[in-house]
Amino acid sequence: MALKRPRLAVFISGFGSNLNIFLENKEKFSSLLVVSSKAEAYGLVRAREHGAPSIVLDKKIDWTTLHSQLIDHEIDGIFLAGFMRIVPASFIEHWKGRLFNLHPSMLPKYKGLKAIEQAVDAKDDVGVSIHHVVPEVDGGEVIMQKLAVGRDELSSLNLEQLTDRVHLAEHQLVQQWIDSMNFFKKD
Ligand code: GRF
Repeated sequence: MALKRPRLAVFISGFGSNLNIFLENKEKFSSLLVVSSKAEAYGLVRAREHGAPSIVLDKKIDWTTLHSQLIDHEIDGIFLAGFMRIVPASFIEHWKGRLFNLHPSMLPKYKGLKAIEQAVDAKDDVGVSIHHVVPEVDGGEVIMQKLAVGRDELSSLNLEQLTDRVHLAEHQLVQQWIDSMNFFKKD
């Protein structure tokens, strides 16, 4: 079974620090396409600096057109890295098994927005997960996860410090996902 270097689309909405991990590993991909829901996203600057092509989505996303653009780019899979828009079920169905998301909690706990705050409020472990995307938000099978801050350490950190630790864990997990990439195996 031969491994082919995949063509990956990374969807973002903002700063793109996780996108940066992909860009720093770009030699492992046949191509990296950046798709942003916001024209002002700093991640687009990062993409330009690395010579990665990008697509900026309209406020009202035309998912059918986007799907065609991804097919035109011969994209094998999609990674949502801080993409702040809900992906419709029909689009998810097209990319079933090839659509991944990064979420800042130890799923299945603390789905949705303000996941870090939800874990803190519950005095629970704060961590990060990469999971398959299904129509239920953050409800898909977990592929890998990493603890960022254990519950015993919570009281010694403020939210900013905690968020920094979460970002660090995210970057490490994304690197781990890239290094163990066997999701796109071809016969
Ligand atoms: C990350 O914390 C991610 O988990 C969340 O949005 C943030 C994106 O950060 N959904 P960045 O744009 O990759 O720096």
